[in-house]
Amino acid sequence: MTKINSLRGMPDLYPEDLISWHPVENKLVEIFNSFSIEEIRTPLLEHTDLFKRSVGDTSDIVNKEIYSFNDRNEKSISLRPEGTAGVIRSIVEKKLDQQQLKLWYMGPMFRYERPQKGRYRQFYQAGVEFLGFPEGSSDFELISLVCLIIEGLKIKNSIIKINHLGDKESKKAFSKELVKFLEPHKKILDEKDLERLNSNPLRILDSKDTNVQNLLKEGPSLTDFISDSANLMLNQIKSSFSKYWDIEIDTNLVRGLDYYNGLVFEAISDDLGAQDAFLGGGRYDNLSSTLGGKEMPSIGLAIGLERIISISSITSSKEKKIAFITSTSNIAPLAFKIANQLRIVNPNVSLDMDLTESSLKAKLRRANKTSASHAFIIGDEEVESESVIVKSLREDIEQVNMNYEDLNKFYKEI
Ligand code: HAM
Repeated sequence: MTKINSLRGMPDLYPEDLISWHPVENKLVEIFNSFSIEEIRTPLLEHTDLFKRSVGDTSDIVNKEIYSFNDRNEKSISLRPEGTAGVIRSIVEKKLDQQQLKLWYMGPMFRYERPQKGRYRQFYQAGVEFLGFPEGSSDFELISLVCLIIEGLKIKNSIIKINHLGDKESKKAFSKELVKFLEPHKKILDEKDLERLNSNPLRILDSKDTNVQNLLKEGPSLTDFISDSANLMLNQIKSSFSKYWDIEIDTNLVRGLDYYNGLVFEAISDDLGAQDAFLGGGRYDNLSSTLGGKEMPSIGLAIGLERIISISSITSSKEKKIAFITSTSNIAPLAFKIANQLRIVNPNVSLDMDLTESSLKAKLRRANKTSASHAFIIGDEEVESESVIVKSLREDIEQVNMNYEDLNKFYKEI
C-alpha cells in the first residue's frame, strides 16, 4: 500500500516540537490573564460570506487564499483564515455588542498560501480583541500588551511598526489620490500591483518591489490625509513607548485585511527571515456594523505562534520524571492505586509505569536510559510491609524504603 502523507503546508507537531510550544502558550495565557482578558472559542468553520464581508473580497486572503467548499446542503462554508471575524460574528449573534469586552483566543487558522519557512497553510494564532473601546487609551493599552509579549517571551531584535489609516473617508480620499498618481506609471507595476490598482490600491504601499517603493516616495502620503488628532496620537504612541521599546512610525504599513481603520501595527524581527512579522493588528471600528451588529469600536491583534516560538528564548523548566516498577504483574492493582495517588499529590511530575513482564533488572536498565531521576520499586516484600523502595538513578546513594506517607511527602517535593 502507498503511504498517505500530510497536506502540503500543514505540518504535524510532534512531542519534540511541542516542548518549545508549551512554555510560550502558557506564558501568553499568563500575560492575557494579567491584562484581565477572557478566553473565547469560536468554530473553525464559518459561512464564507462572513469572511467576504469582513476581511474583504478584494483582499488576497479571501480572494486567493481561503479554503472554501460546499457542505452537503450546497452551502458555501470556509475554514477560518483568521480569528477576528468569527469573534465579532459570535458577539453580534449573542447581542453582546453593546458591552465592553476583552477577549483572547488561540487555535489553528488556514490560508492557501505558497508554503515556505514561517508560512504555512495551517498555522496557529493567539489573538486578542478589545471590543467596545473607542480610539484613545485602548490603543495605548494594546501597544503596551505588545511590549509585554515581546518582553515576556524574551524576543530580541524586534521592532514595532505603527501607522494610522484614518477613517473611512480619509482612506477613500487617499486611495483616490494614490490611483491618480500611479495611473501614468502603470508600466512599473507588476501583475499583482496592477490588479490592486483597481481592487485595493492601498495594498500597493506594501509592495516589495524597490522601483515601486522609490516611485511611492514621490507620491501622496497617507499622513497628509488623516486628521491632526490622528497624527498626534501616532506621535504620542511613539513617544510613550520609544524610551523602553523599539517602535517606529511606518507610513507604508497598510495590512492585508480590509476591516482596519485608525491605528495599525506589526511587530517584526530580523531573526525571522523573509516572513518577519510575528504579530499584527489594528483598530476596526466598523466591523460589527458591517456584520449586522451595533457600532462597536474595537481594536485587536494576532500573534503567529510558529514564528514567535522560533524566536522566543523562554524554555520550559526541566521535566521531572519518575520510573515506577513492579516485580510481578499481580502487584499491578496496588501499583495503579499508589501511582494515581502520587499523580494527584504532584501533577507536575511525570510518572511512568513499567508493567511489562520482564525482570526487575531489565526494567531498571530501561529506567536508567530515560531522564527519570528515581525509580520507585514494589516487590512482594514491599506489598507485605506497605512500603516502596526509592532508588536514585542519578546519584550513587543507597536506596531507601519509604512508607506511603513518607513517599507522598517525598513526591510532593521532588
Ligand atoms: P494577520 O497579520 O493576517 O492578522 O496575521 C497575524 C499574524 O499571523 C502574522 O503577523 C503572522 O505572524 C501570522 N501568520 C499569518 N499568516 C501566516 C501563515 N500563512 N503562516 C504562519 N503564520 C502566519 C490577522 O490575522 C488579524 N486577525 C489580526 C487582528 C486581530 N487584527 C485585529 N484583531
